[in-house]
Amino acid sequence: MKLIITKNYEELSKKAADEMADIIKSNPKAILGLATGGSPMGMYKELIKMNKEGKVDFSNVTTVNLDEYIGLSGDHPQSYRYFMNENLFNHINIDKTNTYVPNGLAKNIEEECKEYDARITELGGTDVQLLGIGNNGHIAFNEPDNELLSGTHLTKLTEDTIKANARFFESIDEVPTQALTMGLGGIMRSKKIIVIASGESKAEAVKAMVSGKISTNMPASMLQMHRNVTVIVDEAAAKLL
Ligand code: GLP
Repeated sequence: MKLIITKNYEELSKKAADEMADIIKSNPKAILGLATGGSPMGMYKELIKMNKEGKVDFSNVTTVNLDEYIGLSGDHPQSYRYFMNENLFNHINIDKTNTYVPNGLAKNIEEECKEYDARITELGGTDVQLLGIGNNGHIAFNEPDNELLSGTHLTKLTEDTIKANARFFESIDEVPTQALTMGLGGIMRSKKIIVIASGESKAEAVKAMVSGKISTNMPASMLQMHRNVTVIVDEAAAKLL
């Protein structure tokens, strides 16, 4: 794992945006695996700025997102589709038909998961996968467990994750309890992985990801088995390294 420690969140966001922009510059048709949550928001702002300044062109880029809440439509303000539109897609020159997020309202969940994986395969896999990390070490919505799944699947969120994500909702009761998530296989097949984490609350998980034992009970530790991972963390998140 390549480790980059930045002074603060702002510097982390710039660094991550530069890494993404370099990938797009070297391959204008890049397939980007994207993530939601607080961590990538600053990076998306930087990418929007770069796009407006003509420094990076998204017109031929395709994106594949990691996950989506079950039961929320794309126009629900807390859905991940809405998040992506608001925080990135609406502000850059991307063709929205080339942006994929699992459908949290799919009638046939099994079919939706199969199609999502087939689409990723058809695209030839992602060139880069961006990841945040949960306080409990989850990546996408692959929660700590005795076993992890490879393909896109339906998952139940842990109490920890529901609590952590309640900050985006009016009350904790509104947080969906289930989600569709890309599995570990989909993530590990990416040519490159960039993990970003900021703040002291992530320090334990960051330490376990970088130097802990590899365990399905710490999903991020599985990334130690990937050959091209860059971890970008600020000093607070790197505190225990
Ligand atoms: C969420 C998402 C993850 C995200 C993580 C951390 O539950 N499903 O993809 O990386 O939690 O979120 P944040 O960046 O807001 O701390």
